[in-house]
Amino acid sequence: MTDDAESLKRLMQARYSCRAFRPDPVPVQVIEGIVDTARHTASWNNTQPWQLVVTQGDETERFRQALLHEVQTGKTAPDLDWPEGYPDELGERRRTCGYALYAAVGIAREDREARARQSMRNFELFDAPHVAILHIPRVLGAYGALDAGGFLTAFMLSAKARGVDTIAQAAIAAYPALIRRHFGLPDDRVILCAISFGYAAGDHPVNTYRTERIGVQDILDWRGA
Ligand SMILES: Cc1cc2nc3c(=O)[nH]c(=O)nc-3n(C[C@H](O)[C@H](O)[C@H](O)COP(=O)(O)O)c2cc1C
Repeated sequence: MTDDAESLKRLMQARYSCRAFRPDPVPVQVIEGIVDTARHTASWNNTQPWQLVVTQGDETERFRQALLHEVQTGKTAPDLDWPEGYPDELGERRRTCGYALYAAVGIAREDREARARQSMRNFELFDAPHVAILHIPRVLGAYGALDAGGFLTAFMLSAKARGVDTIAQAAIAAYPALIRRHFGLPDDRVILCAISFGYAAGDHPVNTYRTERIGVQDILDWRGA
Protein backbone atom coordinates (compact mmCIF):
# COMPACT_ATOMS: atom_id res chain seq x y z
CA MET A 1 0.00 0.00 0.00
CA THR A 2 1.16 3.55 -0.65
CA ASP A 3 1.57 5.95 2.28
CA ASP A 4 -1.59 7.78 1.18
CA ALA A 5 -3.61 4.56 1.09
CA GLU A 6 -2.38 3.56 4.52
CA SER A 7 -3.07 7.00 6.02
CA LEU A 8 -6.56 7.07 4.56
CA LYS A 9 -7.36 3.58 5.83
CA ARG A 10 -6.02 4.47 9.30
CA LEU A 11 -8.18 7.58 9.34
CA MET A 12 -11.28 5.69 8.18
CA GLN A 13 -10.72 3.13 10.93
CA ALA A 14 -10.01 5.73 13.60
CA ARG A 15 -13.20 7.73 13.01
CA TYR A 16 -16.18 6.69 15.06
CA SER A 17 -19.38 8.38 16.18
CA CYS A 18 -18.54 10.30 19.34
CA ARG A 19 -21.40 10.53 21.84
CA ALA A 20 -19.71 12.41 24.71
CA PHE A 21 -17.68 15.58 24.19
CA ARG A 22 -15.54 17.79 26.38
CA PRO A 23 -16.66 21.44 26.53
CA ASP A 24 -13.45 22.88 25.04
CA PRO A 25 -14.17 24.76 21.81
CA VAL A 26 -12.42 23.92 18.54
CA PRO A 27 -10.42 26.92 17.27
CA VAL A 28 -12.01 28.70 14.30
CA GLN A 29 -8.90 28.07 12.18
CA VAL A 30 -9.19 24.33 12.80
CA ILE A 31 -12.89 24.33 11.79
CA GLU A 32 -12.03 26.31 8.66
CA GLY A 33 -9.24 23.81 7.93
CA ILE A 34 -11.72 20.92 8.20
CA VAL A 35 -14.03 22.58 5.68
CA ASP A 36 -11.10 23.59 3.46
CA THR A 37 -10.30 19.89 2.99
CA ALA A 38 -13.91 18.69 2.77
CA ARG A 39 -14.78 21.24 0.07
CA HIS A 40 -12.84 19.14 -2.46
CA THR A 41 -15.67 16.56 -2.45
CA ALA A 42 -17.05 15.67 -5.90
CA SER A 43 -20.61 16.71 -6.79
CA TRP A 44 -23.15 16.58 -9.61
CA ASN A 45 -21.84 19.00 -12.31
CA ASN A 46 -19.61 20.47 -9.60
CA THR A 47 -22.63 22.24 -8.11
CA GLN A 48 -21.18 21.91 -4.56
CA PRO A 49 -24.66 22.25 -3.04
CA TRP A 50 -23.62 21.79 0.62
CA GLN A 51 -23.89 24.59 3.14
CA LEU A 52 -23.14 24.40 6.85
CA VAL A 53 -24.48 26.51 9.68
CA VAL A 54 -21.88 26.15 12.45
CA THR A 55 -22.48 27.23 16.04
CA GLN A 56 -19.89 28.35 18.55
CA GLY A 57 -19.87 29.88 22.02
CA ASP A 58 -23.26 30.81 23.47
CA GLU A 59 -25.03 30.03 20.22
CA THR A 60 -24.47 26.28 20.69
CA GLU A 61 -26.26 26.49 24.05
CA ARG A 62 -29.06 28.67 22.63
CA PHE A 63 -29.69 26.15 19.86
CA ARG A 64 -29.49 23.21 22.30
CA GLN A 65 -32.18 24.80 24.50
CA ALA A 66 -34.40 25.64 21.50
CA LEU A 67 -34.05 22.09 20.22
CA LEU A 68 -34.83 20.49 23.59
CA HIS A 69 -37.90 22.70 23.88
CA GLU A 70 -39.04 21.70 20.38
CA VAL A 71 -38.53 18.00 21.10
CA GLN A 72 -40.79 18.29 24.15
CA THR A 73 -43.48 20.36 22.47
CA GLY A 74 -43.25 19.97 18.69
CA LYS A 75 -43.89 17.21 16.15
CA THR A 76 -41.27 15.43 14.05
CA ALA A 77 -41.57 16.29 10.34
CA PRO A 78 -38.27 15.59 8.55
CA ASP A 79 -37.70 17.09 5.09
CA LEU A 80 -36.56 13.73 3.71
CA ASP A 81 -38.59 10.54 4.10
CA TRP A 82 -37.17 8.34 6.80
CA PRO A 83 -36.51 4.67 5.91
CA GLU A 84 -39.71 2.63 5.57
CA GLY A 85 -37.91 -0.53 6.64
CA TYR A 86 -34.57 -2.32 6.90
CA PRO A 87 -34.59 -5.22 4.42
CA ASP A 88 -32.69 -8.49 4.70
CA GLU A 89 -29.70 -8.34 7.04
CA LEU A 90 -29.88 -4.54 7.48
CA GLY A 91 -32.32 -4.82 10.37
CA GLU A 92 -29.95 -7.14 12.21
CA ARG A 93 -27.02 -4.77 11.69
CA ARG A 94 -29.14 -1.92 13.02
CA ARG A 95 -30.12 -3.89 16.12
CA THR A 96 -26.51 -5.02 16.73
CA CYS A 97 -25.20 -1.46 16.72
CA GLY A 98 -28.03 -0.28 18.98
CA TYR A 99 -27.37 -3.06 21.51
CA ALA A 100 -23.63 -2.34 21.46
CA LEU A 101 -24.37 1.29 22.36
CA TYR A 102 -26.68 0.31 25.23
CA ALA A 103 -24.23 -2.32 26.50
CA ALA A 104 -21.44 0.27 26.55
CA VAL A 105 -23.42 2.50 28.89
CA GLY A 106 -24.90 -0.35 30.94
CA ILE A 107 -28.48 -0.08 29.67
CA ALA A 108 -30.45 -3.34 29.61
CA ARG A 109 -32.16 -4.08 26.27
CA GLU A 110 -35.61 -4.11 27.86
CA ASP A 111 -35.10 -0.85 29.77
CA ARG A 112 -37.11 1.43 27.47
CA GLU A 113 -36.88 4.41 29.78
CA ALA A 114 -33.08 4.35 29.91
CA ARG A 115 -32.95 3.84 26.13
CA ALA A 116 -35.18 6.88 25.63
CA ARG A 117 -32.92 8.90 27.94
CA GLN A 118 -29.86 7.87 25.93
CA SER A 119 -31.71 8.80 22.74
CA MET A 120 -32.44 12.25 24.20
CA ARG A 121 -28.68 12.83 24.39
CA ASN A 122 -28.94 13.50 20.64
CA PHE A 123 -30.82 16.71 21.41
CA GLU A 124 -28.34 17.72 24.07
CA LEU A 125 -25.81 17.48 21.21
CA PHE A 126 -23.91 15.00 23.41
CA ASP A 127 -22.57 18.13 25.20
CA ALA A 128 -20.57 19.15 22.11
CA PRO A 129 -19.28 22.72 21.95
CA HIS A 130 -20.31 22.98 18.27
CA VAL A 131 -23.00 21.71 15.96
CA ALA A 132 -23.08 22.03 12.18
CA ILE A 133 -26.34 21.86 10.24
CA LEU A 134 -25.91 20.42 6.74
CA HIS A 135 -28.42 21.78 4.24
CA ILE A 136 -28.91 21.92 0.45
CA PRO A 137 -31.35 23.55 -2.00
CA ARG A 138 -34.65 21.62 -2.06
CA VAL A 139 -34.84 21.55 -5.88
CA LEU A 140 -31.79 19.26 -6.14
CA GLY A 141 -33.63 16.25 -4.74
CA ALA A 142 -31.89 12.95 -4.08
CA TYR A 143 -28.72 13.74 -6.02
CA GLY A 144 -28.12 16.85 -3.97
CA ALA A 145 -28.45 14.71 -0.84
CA LEU A 146 -26.01 12.21 -2.38
CA ASP A 147 -23.47 14.99 -2.97
CA ALA A 148 -23.93 16.25 0.58
CA GLY A 149 -23.44 12.71 1.93
CA GLY A 150 -20.00 12.69 0.31
CA PHE A 151 -19.28 16.05 1.91
CA LEU A 152 -20.46 14.75 5.28
CA THR A 153 -17.96 11.88 5.18
CA ALA A 154 -15.17 14.18 4.02
CA PHE A 155 -15.98 16.57 6.88
CA MET A 156 -15.85 13.80 9.48
CA LEU A 157 -12.55 12.40 8.15
CA SER A 158 -11.00 15.83 7.80
CA ALA A 159 -12.04 16.54 11.40
CA LYS A 160 -10.59 13.24 12.65
CA ALA A 161 -7.31 14.03 10.87
CA ARG A 162 -7.17 17.17 13.07
CA GLY A 163 -8.01 15.34 16.30
CA VAL A 164 -11.61 16.54 16.24
CA ASP A 165 -14.38 13.99 16.81
CA THR A 166 -17.81 14.08 15.20
CA ILE A 167 -21.21 12.46 15.04
CA ALA A 168 -23.67 12.75 12.16
CA GLN A 169 -27.21 13.12 13.52
CA ALA A 170 -30.29 12.49 11.45
CA ALA A 171 -32.27 12.70 14.71
CA ILE A 172 -31.95 16.47 14.68
CA ALA A 173 -33.18 16.68 11.08
CA ALA A 174 -36.56 15.51 12.41
CA TYR A 175 -37.14 19.15 13.39
CA PRO A 176 -36.37 21.13 10.22
CA ALA A 177 -38.96 23.86 10.87
CA LEU A 178 -37.31 24.77 14.20
CA ILE A 179 -33.86 24.70 12.56
CA ARG A 180 -34.93 27.00 9.71
CA ARG A 181 -36.68 29.35 12.10
CA HIS A 182 -33.82 29.42 14.61
CA PHE A 183 -31.10 30.04 12.05
CA GLY A 184 -33.14 32.15 9.60
CA LEU A 185 -32.85 29.67 6.72
CA PRO A 186 -35.39 29.95 3.90
CA ASP A 187 -38.01 27.26 3.18
CA ASP A 188 -36.26 26.24 -0.03
CA ARG A 189 -33.41 24.64 1.95
CA VAL A 190 -33.59 20.97 2.91
CA ILE A 191 -32.14 20.11 6.32
CA LEU A 192 -30.24 16.85 5.87
CA CYS A 193 -28.60 16.24 9.23
CA ALA A 194 -26.58 17.78 12.02
CA ILE A 195 -22.96 17.09 12.92
CA SER A 196 -22.09 17.63 16.56
CA PHE A 197 -18.34 17.96 16.94
CA GLY A 198 -15.52 18.78 19.33
CA TYR A 199 -12.98 16.87 21.41
CA ALA A 200 -14.05 13.47 22.70
CA ALA A 201 -14.52 12.81 26.40
CA GLY A 202 -12.19 9.87 25.83
CA ASP A 203 -12.87 8.02 29.05
CA HIS A 204 -16.67 8.10 28.73
CA PRO A 205 -18.00 4.53 28.30
CA VAL A 206 -20.21 5.57 25.36
CA ASN A 207 -17.07 6.31 23.37
CA THR A 208 -15.38 3.00 24.08
CA TYR A 209 -17.23 0.60 21.76
CA ARG A 210 -16.77 0.29 17.99
CA THR A 211 -19.16 -0.91 15.30
CA GLU A 212 -18.41 -3.84 12.96
CA ARG A 213 -18.18 -3.71 9.18
CA ILE A 214 -19.14 -6.29 6.56
CA GLY A 215 -16.32 -7.71 4.43
CA VAL A 216 -15.16 -6.67 0.98
CA GLN A 217 -16.72 -9.78 -0.58
CA ASP A 218 -20.08 -8.95 1.04
CA ILE A 219 -20.06 -5.63 -0.80
CA LEU A 220 -18.61 -6.56 -4.19
CA ASP A 221 -20.77 -8.23 -6.82
CA TRP A 222 -18.28 -9.14 -9.53
CA ARG A 223 -19.41 -9.64 -13.10
CA GLY A 224 -17.12 -11.14 -15.76
CA ALA A 225 -13.84 -13.06 -15.40
C1 LIG B 1 -26.43 10.20 7.98
C2 LIG B 1 -26.18 9.67 9.37
C3 LIG B 1 -27.08 9.95 10.37
C4 LIG B 1 -26.86 9.49 11.67
N1 LIG B 1 -27.72 9.84 12.67
C5 LIG B 1 -27.45 9.48 13.95
C6 LIG B 1 -28.27 9.96 15.02
O1 LIG B 1 -29.24 10.69 14.82
N2 LIG B 1 -27.94 9.59 16.28
C7 LIG B 1 -26.86 8.78 16.56
O2 LIG B 1 -26.60 8.48 17.74
N3 LIG B 1 -26.07 8.32 15.56
C8 LIG B 1 -26.32 8.67 14.27
N4 LIG B 1 -25.50 8.26 13.26
C9 LIG B 1 -24.31 7.46 13.58
C10 LIG B 1 -24.44 6.00 13.13
O3 LIG B 1 -25.25 5.31 14.05
C11 LIG B 1 -23.03 5.41 13.03
O4 LIG B 1 -22.33 6.06 12.01
C12 LIG B 1 -23.03 3.92 12.75
O5 LIG B 1 -23.61 3.20 13.80
C13 LIG B 1 -21.60 3.41 12.54
O6 LIG B 1 -20.81 3.67 13.69
P1 LIG B 1 -19.53 4.61 13.65
O7 LIG B 1 -19.92 5.94 13.08
O8 LIG B 1 -19.10 4.71 15.09
O9 LIG B 1 -18.50 3.95 12.77
C14 LIG B 1 -25.71 8.69 11.95
C15 LIG B 1 -24.82 8.40 10.93
C16 LIG B 1 -25.04 8.88 9.65
C17 LIG B 1 -24.01 8.60 8.58
